[in-house]
Amino acid sequence: AQIDKGNHRHFMLKEIYEQPIVVAQTLRSYLRPLDGQVALPIPDFDFADIRRVTVVACGTSYYAGMVAKYWFERFARLPVEIDVASEYRYRDPVMEEGGLALFISQSGETADTLAALRHARAGGQKIAVVVNVPTSTMAREADLLLPTHAGPEIGVASTKAFTCQLAVLAALAANLARARGKLSPKEEREIVRHLEEAPAAINAALAYDEAIAVVAGQIAGARDVLYLGRGPDYPLALEGALKLKEISYIHAEGYAAGEMKHGPIALIDDHVPVIVLAPSGPLFEKTMSNMQEVQARGGKVVLISDYDGIQAAGEDCLATITMPKVHPLIAPIVYAIPVQLLAYHVAVLKGTDVDQPRNLAKSVTVE
Ligand code: AGP
Repeated sequence: AQIDKGNHRHFMLKEIYEQPIVVAQTLRSYLRPLDGQVALPIPDFDFADIRRVTVVACGTSYYAGMVAKYWFERFARLPVEIDVASEYRYRDPVMEEGGLALFISQSGETADTLAALRHARAGGQKIAVVVNVPTSTMAREADLLLPTHAGPEIGVASTKAFTCQLAVLAALAANLARARGKLSPKEEREIVRHLEEAPAAINAALAYDEAIAVVAGQIAGARDVLYLGRGPDYPLALEGALKLKEISYIHAEGYAAGEMKHGPIALIDDHVPVIVLAPSGPLFEKTMSNMQEVQARGGKVVLISDYDGIQAAGEDCLATITMPKVHPLIAPIVYAIPVQLLAYHVAVLKGTDVDQPRNLAKSVTVE
C-alpha cells in the first residue's frame, strides 16, 4: 500500500509522532505485563551459555547498540564489545566460543553490517539480529530474529526505528539477565513496569514540540553545536549530533560530558550552543558539574531535563526543555524525542530537504 504523510509536513515528523504507538506495539511482542515478565519471540533459545556479546551496527542503529551495552553489562553482567560495522569487519576481532554477535539495523540491508554478520558467522558466533524489515537479508540470515515493529520508515533520518530498537534491546538485556540468574522476579517485574511506561512518557515528551520549535529558532543560526550526556545518555548525545548534521547540515558533535575537559572545551564560546541531556538520576550531579564548566567559559546551554533537574540547574541556561520524569532505564527512549524534534525544527527553519537530505541514502548498500 502507498504510504503517505497523513497530516504531517514531512515523513520524519509523522514518524516521530508514531513513536508512542510503535514502541507500544514492539513492546507487546516482548513483554508479558500481567506476569511481570519479558518474553522474547524466540522462546526456544537458552541464553544461559552466552559468555560475551559483540554488538555491531552503523549510524543510529550503532548508537542504539551503545545504549544496550550499558544495559547488558548492568543487568546481565556480560562483557560487551561494540564496534561500527565498517571497522569490525576489517580488524580481525577475537571470536570466542559462546559469543553472541548482535547486529542492529533498520533496513536489514546495510552492506557493512551484513558483511560483518557473515564474518561473525564464519567465526562461529551465534547471530542475533534486531531488524525492522522482516523480509530483509539480515532477517533471513539470523539465528535469532528480534524484530522491531516500527513499520516502514521513509525519512532518511532514523527516528521511530531507533526507539523501537531500544525497546527490544532493553527486553533482551532483561532476558539475558534472567537466563544468567542475575535478575530476581521482582527486578524483572520492575523492568517490565518501567518499559510499559515508555509509550505514555514519549507522548508526554511530544507535547513539548512547540517549545522545542522555539529553541530550534535559537540554535538554527549556529555554525557548530555540541551535545553532552553521560552513561546511557551519552550515545543519545551522539545521536542528537548525527540527526542535526544529517538534516540541517550544521556541524555538530556529541561528547561524553566528562570528556569535555580533555579537549573539546576549547571550542566553547558564546557562539556554540551546547545541548545537555541530563535526566534526574545517578549521573545528574556529575553532568551538572560538566555543564557548569561549559557555562563558566561563556557557553550557551540548552538543558534537557525533567522538572526537578531544571529547577535545580536551569537558571543560567539559554533555554530549557522539560521532559517527563522517568526511570533512568527508559530515559534514552524518552529523551530521543526532543533530540529528534530539535533537529527536525532546525532543518525546517533552514529550509533543507528534511526527508531526503543531500548525499544520503536511506539504506547504504555499498561497503
Ligand atoms: C540515521 O539517521 C541514518 N540515516 C543512518 O545513520 C542509519 O542509521 C545507518 O545507515 C544504519 O542503517 P540501518 O539501521 O538500516 O542498518
